[in-house]
Amino acid sequence: MKQFRRIGILTSGGDAPGMNAAYRAAARAALARGIEVYGIYEGYKGLIYDNMTLISKPSDVSNIITKSGTVLYSDRCLEFKTEEGMAKAIETCKKNHIDGIVAIGGDGTFRGATDLSKRGIPTIGIPGTIDNDITATDYTIGFDTAMNTVISMVDRLRDTCESHARCDVVEVMGRWAGHIALRTAIATGASAVAIAEIPFDEAKAIADMKKARENGKRSFIVIVSEGLPGYAEQLAKKIQDQTGIETKFARLAHVQRGGSPSLLDRLTASEMGVAAVDELLKGNSDLVVCKVDDKICTMEIKKALTVDRMFKKKITEEELAALSDEDKAWMTARCDKVLAGMQRLYAIAEEIK
Ligand code: F6P
Repeated sequence: MKQFRRIGILTSGGDAPGMNAAYRAAARAALARGIEVYGIYEGYKGLIYDNMTLISKPSDVSNIITKSGTVLYSDRCLEFKTEEGMAKAIETCKKNHIDGIVAIGGDGTFRGATDLSKRGIPTIGIPGTIDNDITATDYTIGFDTAMNTVISMVDRLRDTCESHARCDVVEVMGRWAGHIALRTAIATGASAVAIAEIPFDEAKAIADMKKARENGKRSFIVIVSEGLPGYAEQLAKKIQDQTGIETKFARLAHVQRGGSPSLLDRLTASEMGVAAVDELLKGNSDLVVCKVDDKICTMEIKKALTVDRMFKKKITEEELAALSDEDKAWMTARCDKVLAGMQRLYAIAEEIK
């Protein structure tokens, strides 16, 4: 087992409910193993500017498991991508005797984790983003809470739509990914869902709504992923023009990132926080903690980012050619599995709308 004096923990990128639970778990797991912790403020920026707080006892991270946002604050730090910024970050680690880092965030955070690992600071990533868009893991911290927020907001829209016999087209977050849209569409009884990953039959969706109105349906909810930029607003206009149903457009935006984390987010964050510290102590580095088929596991960050690019169809021919047959087969199977899961939910959404 590798000897550590201190580890640093940071949160970076978009905040997500449950990041505090992951920080708390990693900090307490480290303390339990005799290691001190620095809570680093504002992601990688805090590492560059030496902005951190020493956590020397469990009570230093008390009462944060219920909190949303991130008590460590976050930042999408461009300076960290420069050689100069990176050099300052490494210097800060040396000065403060930080022998390893746990970095909680999304894909941008993991790129930073690899940069640190390559420069001799072992770093383990924890997936924290409401988008659930890290293809290597079935689950990212914050996803469940964000979806619960969406359904509670959309239920309210449904109430007023029903009173006024209206339709509401609701744009939900997820960046490129339609995971939030797909699940919340089913859970709110939406009449249609449009996401980037699966072709949307707009004409059929509108015709179905028209028919449903003729059959007496008063209120309609349509969920659109922000992965189709600007589409929700256009669709609202088309629905109104083509069906005569008064249609409003709502963008839920950053409300989806707030709120006290759900049980699933607190639990997964706690499991992942402990696992990240265990990986550091095993002498591992440059890994992301994942949850696959309900089990905590890890994956090389490079592989996780590559499978992600494959799923998002951003992988280059050169990158593909450089993969081993084994990796290519695994990544293809993983992408197929994730897409098949989405197609299955999409079919359910269509069938029971
Ligand atoms: O990645 C989380 C997320 O909330 C996405 O769903 C959204 O596209 C993006 O971050 C918004 O970013 P920002 O907080 O920088 O506006």
